[in-house]
Amino acid sequence: MTQSESRTQSTLSREPVRFLVFSASLRVASLNTRLARLAARTIEDHGGTVDLAAMSEFDAPSYDQEVQERDGFPPGAEAFRRRLEASDAFVIASPEYNFSMPGLLKNTIDWVSRYKPQPFNERHALLISASPSMAGGNRGLWALRVPLEHLGARVFPDMFSLAQAHQAFDGDGRIVNEQLSDWFERNVVAFMDLVEAAKHYPCVKKAWVEFLGEHPNPLTTRVE
Ligand SMILES: Cc1cc2nc3c(=O)[nH]c(=O)nc-3n(C[C@H](O)[C@H](O)[C@H](O)COP(=O)(O)O)c2cc1C
Repeated sequence: MTQSESRTQSTLSREPVRFLVFSASLRVASLNTRLARLAARTIEDHGGTVDLAAMSEFDAPSYDQEVQERDGFPPGAEAFRRRLEASDAFVIASPEYNFSMPGLLKNTIDWVSRYKPQPFNERHALLISASPSMAGGNRGLWALRVPLEHLGARVFPDMFSLAQAHQAFDGDGRIVNEQLSDWFERNVVAFMDLVEAAKHYPCVKKAWVEFLGEHPNPLTTRVE
């Protein structure tokens, strides 16, 4: 089957599924923002609905529990929570900073993790990255998996990291190398298939328990 035949088939047969897509870079010329836009376009080409966000909309002051207790949540965290809850799944294109995720992304995840119900729980996530380096930012994605998995997100096993990303895009924002472009599309579509399938079988997972084996105590227990 050609790529366009499979696109037509998957567009026709899909059930409405909504994806929040954003890049965790604030840079105007961000490579990850280019990759996020390509993911958004790919999802739409295959019949998904996209909410494309910018990191500037989710950025928040450094997390401080006393500030939260006194002033509540900052607008960036509120926006991230609201748009997560309006989506079935989310895609993050994250830069790798020092083999990990950017601090501002971890900070906004920390803020949003304090909402109850906790909105990452049970949401499907696809992690992608772009970097000028040969590893494409992949080590940062492994670090990003940890808090998301801990929070109950269903992080898709396959991640996509675009190496030498400063040379990888054409003027139209597509990946020049055909093989890489095809792998990217397959990765995104496989994720879409899983999210759609999970909508048909929503009972796979029932509860989020932060620490298995902890002694029940209303002060520390976070079970939903
Ligand atoms: C603080 C900092 C740390 C970085 N650490 C890494 C790194 O560990 N691995 C890597 O591949 N690139 C690293 N880079 C380079 C980024 O991958 C590069 O700047 C990339 O373009 C950032 O993503 P963006 O274009 O989406 O903003 C680092 C950049 C900065 C500013």
